[in-house]
Amino acid sequence: MNYEQALAAQLAGYTSLPMDEIAQAIETPQDPKLGDLAFPCFRLAKAMKKAPPVIAQDIAASLNSASLPWIGEVRATGPYVNIFVSRSDFAANILTAVLKAGTSYGADGTGNGQKVLVEYSSPNIAKHFHVGHLGSTMIGKALDNIYRYLGYDVTSINYLGDWGTQFGKLITAYLKWGSKEEIEKTEIDGLVKLYVKFHEEADNDPSLNDEARAWVVRMQEGNEEGFALWRWFIELSLREYNRLYDRLNINFDEISSESRYSNKMDAVVTTLKQKGLLKESEGAQIVDLEEYGMPPCLILRSDGGTLYPTRDIAAAYDRYETYKFTKSLYVTGNEQSLNFAQWIKVVELMGNPWAKGIVHVLYGMLLFEEGKLSTRRGQVIKMEDLINEAVSKTRNIIEERNPSLANKEEVAWQVGYGALVFNKLYNSRIKDTIFNWDHMLNFEGETGPYVQYTHARACSVLEKGGWSDIPSFAPNLVAEDEAFDVLRLIYDFPGKVEEAAAKYEPFIIARQLVAIAQAFNVYYSKNMILVEDESLRQSRLALTCAVRQILKNGLQLLGIAAPVAM
Ligand code: ARG
Repeated sequence: MNYEQALAAQLAGYTSLPMDEIAQAIETPQDPKLGDLAFPCFRLAKAMKKAPPVIAQDIAASLNSASLPWIGEVRATGPYVNIFVSRSDFAANILTAVLKAGTSYGADGTGNGQKVLVEYSSPNIAKHFHVGHLGSTMIGKALDNIYRYLGYDVTSINYLGDWGTQFGKLITAYLKWGSKEEIEKTEIDGLVKLYVKFHEEADNDPSLNDEARAWVVRMQEGNEEGFALWRWFIELSLREYNRLYDRLNINFDEISSESRYSNKMDAVVTTLKQKGLLKESEGAQIVDLEEYGMPPCLILRSDGGTLYPTRDIAAAYDRYETYKFTKSLYVTGNEQSLNFAQWIKVVELMGNPWAKGIVHVLYGMLLFEEGKLSTRRGQVIKMEDLINEAVSKTRNIIEERNPSLANKEEVAWQVGYGALVFNKLYNSRIKDTIFNWDHMLNFEGETGPYVQYTHARACSVLEKGGWSDIPSFAPNLVAEDEAFDVLRLIYDFPGKVEEAAAKYEPFIIARQLVAIAQAFNVYYSKNMILVEDESLRQSRLALTCAVRQILKNGLQLLGIAAPVAM
């Protein structure tokens, strides 16, 4: 049941306003003591030729005498009609809805099968999967889940960075100093070492740069030796990435990569020429974007080599032709915002209305207490190491709090990794995330472990109370103020999921989960659940069960597991 809609329908009968407009005007009073819903009567004054407070009195009287089962009390307060919904009717509706829908509570099908692409993670071959890709992977996975939940037809894409001049350097370095055996063993570590060595040596011997460039040209001409090495670098890199994706339970629908588009530039260049958009500048081909307040978008280098934005333009065409998407999301760091704004503008100028559906979902950096995270010259924090550390710290906490826990290793992983994800998804994307272990692993803070812990606590109460998952409760027994606070947050949950999708902001869900967990813990501390009285116990268990369900659903949307004990 939608209370705003029900109220709007009722009010439409008393006024000349259309239902939509009334629904729009309905508010939630800041102070819950005033009411659960409020309708301001100002806009009726003109048509009804009465003062708003008089109209409010009249409407309140009509609503009271209509004796609707879902309305507890109506009061006119100045120009406002304030409505308190019936606590027990509300409990009956929300609990029934959640217990019935289970994992799909709020999965209302608004997406209606529309095609949405979510590109995320997208690490760079021969480089570690570092914490810079953590944000993309976590935010992307959450959006992937959220859009699917709402009934969109989602295709997730991992767009590997497997093209560029660095491969000329790497091939040169490998042929000079590398050993096959060593690299097979050390994988990306070995490749990174070679890359770093290349830069060190090239500082003294610039001819190395010429050799690297020569390899790039040979690759462009399809040189098999170069390609074989390049393919091997990709294979080695994917070993590390796939270990992670397996652990994180991430499966992409499509693995794409920059190299796929490195020789598909002709169509892009031809269209740009036809539309008169291409200009020459210092030997390179550019699209001038001065009119839009941006520096020019580089399309082709002077040697004819392709560039990152050009590959993205070709990929965007390919994605549109393949999927006819309504929306195409790209989750990458905000340091790429200009680059994305430029090439998206170019696609638009090329006359593609679908460019409107392309969204750069950008996010802030992960900052470590010591300062900014550095990714230059090998000094990176590997995602694998970070996760291992989170898990090992969590293992220690579990050892202290609950040493007899059955599947400690699995739970340590679920909670440790969950803490990392929650920490990243708890604030608006654009904000930088400060990294602090004590904060993110605090079981009592606004954290992943706190939400997981509340979920586990609910599971344990349900088990002890003999809850059988057959909804049997008396709604008037879950009508306390604290119960209502919990139910209200659960009622709002579907709207929050939609808002998170519309704004590409998983934090909206994360915050709602913390609010629900907090409200439930207040309820729990004031109302003993495992009481003797059968009916009261079952009713309180029903609320507990609904809370458990929402926390689980919400954590799942964020890409976090919900262990039953921890
Ligand atoms: N590989 C890039 C990086 O690590 C991210 C790719 C973003 N996606 C894109 N279509 N350009 O910075």
